[in-house]
Amino acid sequence: STNDRTPNDHISEEKLHQLVDRFYELVSNHPDLAPIFPDDLTETARKQKQFLTQFLGGPPLYTEEHGHPMLRARHMPFPITPTRAKAWLSCMEQAMEDVNLQDPFKTYFFNRLTYTANHMINTQE
Ligand code: HEM
Repeated sequence: STNDRTPNDHISEEKLHQLVDRFYELVSNHPDLAPIFPDDLTETARKQKQFLTQFLGGPPLYTEEHGHPMLRARHMPFPITPTRAKAWLSCMEQAMEDVNLQDPFKTYFFNRLTYTANHMINTQE
């Protein structure tokens, strides 16, 4: 029944992986974001695929390999300003468009990411 569905049912693993790969392509070219990310984003993308799978109600792939996400704590080494949070979200919005993510899932997912991104802000400009 529809009640058994988790949000993860609305995006395939393949689509989620396409989204994350496109997202980090955009991040690596964004002037506000590129400087705080590693040059090689392979491992970052791999972890993000694991994290977003569990974020959307799928299997806890991130936690199994890395422990509790504690995302805000893990972001503390990086100065996350309001400008960078906006930039992160704009890359995500663009990536969602580029891989043709469909509403209503797109809006649901983007709203949750907006909430999380704002929670990561740890430094003023
Ligand atoms: C890791 C930046 C928001 C999930 C990272 C890293 C940076 C970063 C620089 C380290 C990359 C590396 O060393 O591999 C940012 C910025 C954000 C943001 C500027 C703007 C608000 C988010 C959000 C999420 C997220 C909203 C989740 C929805 C992750 C995950 C990792 C990560 C899962 C890997 C953590 C690990 O090393 O295990 N982020 N992030 N980030 N970020 Fe973000």
